[in-house]
Amino acid sequence: MDLPSFKLDHWLSKYDFATPPITHNLASSTGPRWTVGELRALGDGVSVEDTILSYAPPEGGRALREAVADFHGADPDWVVTTTGASEALSILFCLFERPGATVLLPDPGYPAYAAMAEAWRLGPRVYPLDRSDRFSQRADAVLARVDASTSAVVVNTPHNPSGSVMPRADLVRLAKALGERGIPLIVDEVYHPLYFGEYQASAAGIENVIVTSDLSKAMSLPGLRTGWLIDMDPARRARIVDARSYFTISGSPPLECLAAHALRHSAAILARLEKVAGANLALLDHLFADDRHGLRWARPQGGTTAYPWFEDGRDSRSFCEALAVSGVLFAPGDCFGDPSHVRIGYAQHDEDFQQALAIVSDTLRKEGQ
Ligand SMILES: Cc1ncc(COP(=O)(O)O)c(C=O)c1O
Repeated sequence: MDLPSFKLDHWLSKYDFATPPITHNLASSTGPRWTVGELRALGDGVSVEDTILSYAPPEGGRALREAVADFHGADPDWVVTTTGASEALSILFCLFERPGATVLLPDPGYPAYAAMAEAWRLGPRVYPLDRSDRFSQRADAVLARVDASTSAVVVNTPHNPSGSVMPRADLVRLAKALGERGIPLIVDEVYHPLYFGEYQASAAGIENVIVTSDLSKAMSLPGLRTGWLIDMDPARRARIVDARSYFTISGSPPLECLAAHALRHSAAILARLEKVAGANLALLDHLFADDRHGLRWARPQGGTTAYPWFEDGRDSRSFCEALAVSGVLFAPGDCFGDPSHVRIGYAQHDEDFQQALAIVSDTLRKEGQ
């Protein structure tokens, strides 16, 4: 199997793991960074030292599953923990594979969806987000692409890279319409619950929905490599747990311990994220209020990324390279199949964001000369 090169990760790794790393990383999609010490200082109740370094249960330890269930307003029995949302998606694509089967994915979308589907020989097909209307996600646009080959559908809300949100009424309608055709709806909620408009409840508990999520994005702790899926169907859950046992046997007990601790203190972690993301979005509002630089955007409704584009359709890679030389990292849109776009991650940095945007304005001005 020849998987496509993971352009986005190559780009991020080249600059973020360089010595020294890029000064202002505005390409990443996670929130502010936490150390283990800062996480532990959020409150008591974490005893990593006493954790036995054995395997954890294949469905995840009870304490972590209860903390995940609490986070989503779900039943702990519905939760299976995984190594990141990546493993959750991989398990689902593996289980939904059958000869000739396809999975419907958002376009644009997180590039690993299509690659993982291909790896499991589940044909990736796409449905479009409405680019003329802030990348809006509507049930009808998804349903129009469903056919006899569709074995699963993925919705990502809030969405990477655009920050659009599928309204709950559409999610409910889509899940029901798919359910009538025996097609499960996977809702990838890694950016939940970061919304800039109306708050939206998790899709966990909607009939025919499997939620996938993690600690990496809204919870800002990608180094804990903790994800999960939430599925109300007990027979399918049993197959998921079996797959998990085959793939990675279990999670890591010390990481599970820290992950449960983090979720019990999610209010503090999310408050920091909201503060940074909110302040930086206001600075981006200012940048995009001046349209002389030719870069346009659709203000995100949630999540940690925005997906602006050059109005003249130019390829953004050389701009991103020039910007990186000046110490600011955006992700070039070709990583998502859209060369005229850039992805901006605005939720990781606080005090240096304004300085980074000054460099962006300067580079844009030079490009325009
Ligand atoms: C939309 C989306 N889903 C899933 C993932 C997988 O993240 P992880 O494996 O860290 O949980 C990512 C990572 O960038 C993502 O953007």
